[in-house]
Amino acid sequence: MTARPIIIDCDPGQDDAINLLLALAAPDELKVLGITTVAGNVPLALTERNARLMCDIAGRTDVPVFAGSDKPLQRSLITAENVHGRSGIDGIDIVPPVTPLQPMHAIDFIIEKLESAALESVTLVPTGPLTNIAAAISRQPSILEAVREIVLMGGAMRQGGNTTPSAEFNMLVDPHAAKIVLACGRPIVAMGLDVTHKVLANSARVARIRAIDTAPARATAGMLEYFSRHDSKKYGKDGAPLHDPCTIAWLLQPNLFETRHCNIEIEVESELTMGHTAVDFWGVSGRAANAHWACDVDAEGFYELLSNRLAAYEGTQ
Ligand code: RIB
Ligand code: CA
Repeated sequence: MTARPIIIDCDPGQDDAINLLLALAAPDELKVLGITTVAGNVPLALTERNARLMCDIAGRTDVPVFAGSDKPLQRSLITAENVHGRSGIDGIDIVPPVTPLQPMHAIDFIIEKLESAALESVTLVPTGPLTNIAAAISRQPSILEAVREIVLMGGAMRQGGNTTPSAEFNMLVDPHAAKIVLACGRPIVAMGLDVTHKVLANSARVARIRAIDTAPARATAGMLEYFSRHDSKKYGKDGAPLHDPCTIAWLLQPNLFETRHCNIEIEVESELTMGHTAVDFWGVSGRAANAHWACDVDAEGFYELLSNRLAAYEGTQ
């Protein structure tokens, strides 16, 4: 089986970081063409550094990492240090990465890589605000011909918003970018809060990861212990929802998830409901379906996958 080519666009953030470790643990199944970074959880200078640090921890200093947009298309940047800590990946020791930052801008990389790729061959995996993806599509719409699928983390319906009553963070930070991506016409799988809140990093699951003797597992446990403190208190549950790794878990084991093909539109006018994702789960709008909305997941199977892949890292002590 040939490895599936993917580009991960992210704003590490502990959950983005764990998603990178999960992706880099599966070289036979996923070929990471590049990691592009965007401002979101923390400013761009930190998200790009954090992505490079994950490549070091994974023993993959060969993976090209690019810095992209430092602010949304139209709105001012919102960050989330209250959730992720000042570094964005509090919970592990922060050292200067060995993995270099590529000189090319992330948007240029996305365009160049897709322009030279075969039809419908590359999967995009955005787990932060969609600014880079939207900017690339707007600048060069023909790149969409090379996109096989977009597997994104973002949005909320039944769960409600996590940053405003109506909106999930990624969609709120750059709703205009999300509108462009949702209308792009390529297959979309959307991992929203409705499903990510079903994969809580509870104490037993973190303890299981903590017991794995690899550097990526130790880093994951440390990040989860920090990352869980905020949301455990906010939601009154044992553990935080592990949002972004739902994307790579879908690519590795899609049968873990249940999805519904439906229409998703996003609010870009009202400040009260800015970034709200109107997920037409029951097909009442008459609008064409444009995304596969994840609505359920085998949580134990998800953590089995994550733990097994973290344990499979060889040579990273
Ligand atoms: O709302 C959760 C999402 O926003 C996750 O991707 C998290 O990393 C932040 O980017
Ligand atoms: Ca993220």
